[in-house]
Amino acid sequence: MAKVELKNINKYFGKEQVLFDINLRIEEGEFLVLVGPSGCGKSTTLRLVAGLEHIDQGDVTIGDRLVNRIEPQNRNIAMVFQNYALYPHKSVRENIIFGLKRAKVEKAVIEERLNSVAEVLQLTEYLDRKPAQLSGGQRQRVAMGRAIVRDADVFLFDEPLSNLDAKLRNQMRSEIRRIHKTYKTTSIYVTHDQVEAMTLGDRVVVMRDGFIEQCGTPMEIYLEPANIFVATFIGAPSMNLLDAVLFPGHIELEGQKLKLDDRFRNGSTKIPETGREVKLGIRPDFLLDENFTPPGATLAGIENCKIELMEPLGFDKELNLQLGNQTFKARLDLRTTSVEGDTINLCFDTGRIHLFDIESGVNLFRKQNY
Ligand SMILES: Nc1ncnc2c1ncn2[C@@H]1O[C@H](COP(=O)(O)OP(=O)(O)OP(=O)(O)O)[C@@H](O)[C@H]1O
Ligand SMILES: [Mg+2]
Repeated sequence: MAKVELKNINKYFGKEQVLFDINLRIEEGEFLVLVGPSGCGKSTTLRLVAGLEHIDQGDVTIGDRLVNRIEPQNRNIAMVFQNYALYPHKSVRENIIFGLKRAKVEKAVIEERLNSVAEVLQLTEYLDRKPAQLSGGQRQRVAMGRAIVRDADVFLFDEPLSNLDAKLRNQMRSEIRRIHKTYKTTSIYVTHDQVEAMTLGDRVVVMRDGFIEQCGTPMEIYLEPANIFVATFIGAPSMNLLDAVLFPGHIELEGQKLKLDDRFRNGSTKIPETGREVKLGIRPDFLLDENFTPPGATLAGIENCKIELMEPLGFDKELNLQLGNQTFKARLDLRTTSVEGDTINLCFDTGRIHLFDIESGVNLFRKQNY
């Protein structure tokens, strides 16, 4: 186990810069997830740590070792890729211990590690099979086993589950969590699946176009996004963004005055609060039916929202709503009796909304505690 640090990393492919001043510190035993849209630089970041890409500027350290000039095979890392290539003619056992044999690890040690890894991955009864005789998920576990058995300082995962169907993916996700709990190996995990990111990561790094947009715990990313990009990238259905105008103590939304708490009076920067246009961000899940509000919360209300569409989802109802010229979504629980065509009064905990700068998208009043 070791900590990993990336300092001031810039990366170019030819003339094109694909990573911009990346700074990250992954603590010993931590599980860090890199998430972001296709092409944002997740794999490149991972490959820099692995030593598969040249570092143009900046430093990568693993443990206390600067590894910029150290060959991949000498970095003591284990990688699991999307296209995990198993040796088709070797048995599961041979696939898993291949690296150990090559490294001339003692036989007894190999046997012990193999058995322990096979048990954790529930592969014991498949050790004599060939990869072709396994299911996708089992093959994936063999690939994982091959990485784990090596006792590496760091695990690097690049979308290891993206080839699996939804059910297997869920299973493997739990498996990976379990493995990390057991071995606590420092891990960096790349995915563009936000659910994977939020369920696996001790911390999550949201990237866009070669930049880190935000790095934080899943809770922090979800509840206190740094900007509109993070706010709308994480969470499904996506956070609503409504045009509103900010005044001291309240906002105006489609002619309605919504009272705000004191947090919105003193932003960290000198924000002209009177008559400033902002984007009001509120997650569909944080909107409530006025008739069923919990006691004790500081609530603000939005009145007369027209229900354009209502989709029952079992425990919830998802509503498409219209207010003035703006549309937004709410996810209410099944107690709501309103139907399509009705108007409904909604409310929300003012601690759960965000006001974003229209130009930069920056979250203007981000809380440090959530
Ligand atoms: N070998 C290469 N040569 C030139 N450009 C590259 C190379 N590898 C990656 N890129 C570019 O670098 C950028 C980042 O690519 P990267 O593979 O890191 O993205 P990613 O976030 O992993 O995307 P995905 O989710 O699609 O895997 C992209 O614009 C990509 O086109
Ligand atoms: Mg990639």
